[in-house]
Amino acid sequence: MSTPRIPGLGELQLLARGGYATIYRASQGSVGREVAVKIENRTLDDELDRRRFVREARAAGRMSSHPFVVDLFDAGVCDDGRPFLVMELCSESYADRLKRGVMIASEVRELGVKLAGVLADAHDLGVLHRDVKPANILVSAFGEPVLADFGLAILVELRDPSVNLEILTPAYAPPEMFDRARPAPSADVYALCATLYALLTGAPPRWRDEAMGGIAALLELFGQPIPDVPGAPPELVEVLRTGMANDPEDRPTARELVVRLKEVGQVEVQVPVQRRPMEVDEPTEQAPRRWSIARLFGLD
Ligand SMILES: Nc1ncnc2c1ncn2[C@@H]1O[C@H](COP(=O)(O)OP(=O)(O)OP(=O)(O)O)[C@@H](O)[C@H]1O
Ligand SMILES: [Mg+2]
Repeated sequence: MSTPRIPGLGELQLLARGGYATIYRASQGSVGREVAVKIENRTLDDELDRRRFVREARAAGRMSSHPFVVDLFDAGVCDDGRPFLVMELCSESYADRLKRGVMIASEVRELGVKLAGVLADAHDLGVLHRDVKPANILVSAFGEPVLADFGLAILVELRDPSVNLEILTPAYAPPEMFDRARPAPSADVYALCATLYALLTGAPPRWRDEAMGGIAALLELFGQPIPDVPGAPPELVEVLRTGMANDPEDRPTARELVVRLKEVGQVEVQVPVQRRPMEVDEPTEQAPRRWSIARLFGLD
């Protein structure tokens, strides 16, 4: 696939390849800044799909001025039909961080307060994220966590409209999503709590290393208890457990989650003031997605 040109941006330099998109770095000459460009691998061929993409990008754009959300500067469709997003250039993701080791409880709690705050704000605006997971939490130039890939449902569906299961990341997806329930704010709450749990322990809850025997076996896992985490305050794990309740009605709202996480300990959310030098790694390649256990649990 050739590298397209995006109006207003200099030459695109490969930064990373995700399962469904390629991320480039580019300079935006008019305002003298470096940006990240995400170009989907698949095309939006239908005019209705293109319109829906633009509509959803606007919804995502409404969220993007939040201090803990990746700034979205522009969105459009390349000449060849592939949708693109121009956004804030970040460094690594929390999935990369997780590869170096787990986070301490106080950090996880602070991250949780910030991101539950983002979800509360989004849900107030009627915007769902739909894909909260460590790979979609990036680190900004201020060293702050910022949530990426907000609510572009069409891009998620574009991945494979016939197989909904393929588009989920089950490790971070609640049981009702396997019943093809309509996406709801409670699913974002589940995904955030599963993400925080993974950052604390190294893997999402009920994660297994061996292959699963299909959906029935996967659903059975949801019946298993979520273990305590040695070294982490039991109250924190309990809050996360409640956020991952199998019945969406039993989960707190994102706003309640902010309060509960704050109650677990003293959390002072710092306002970012000190810009940090940006280190961007060499391009990374990710193998095409397959139905694998790693993919199933969002660890690839
Ligand atoms: N704004 C950005 N700035 C810098 N790097 C980014 C940015 N957005 C994404 N990346 C990097 O590119 C990688 C691939 O991102 P991409 O969103 O395509 O895949 P993903 O997050 O792993 O999965 P998903 O397709 O479900 O979002 C990310 O893991 C991250 O390291
Ligand atoms: Mg992503």
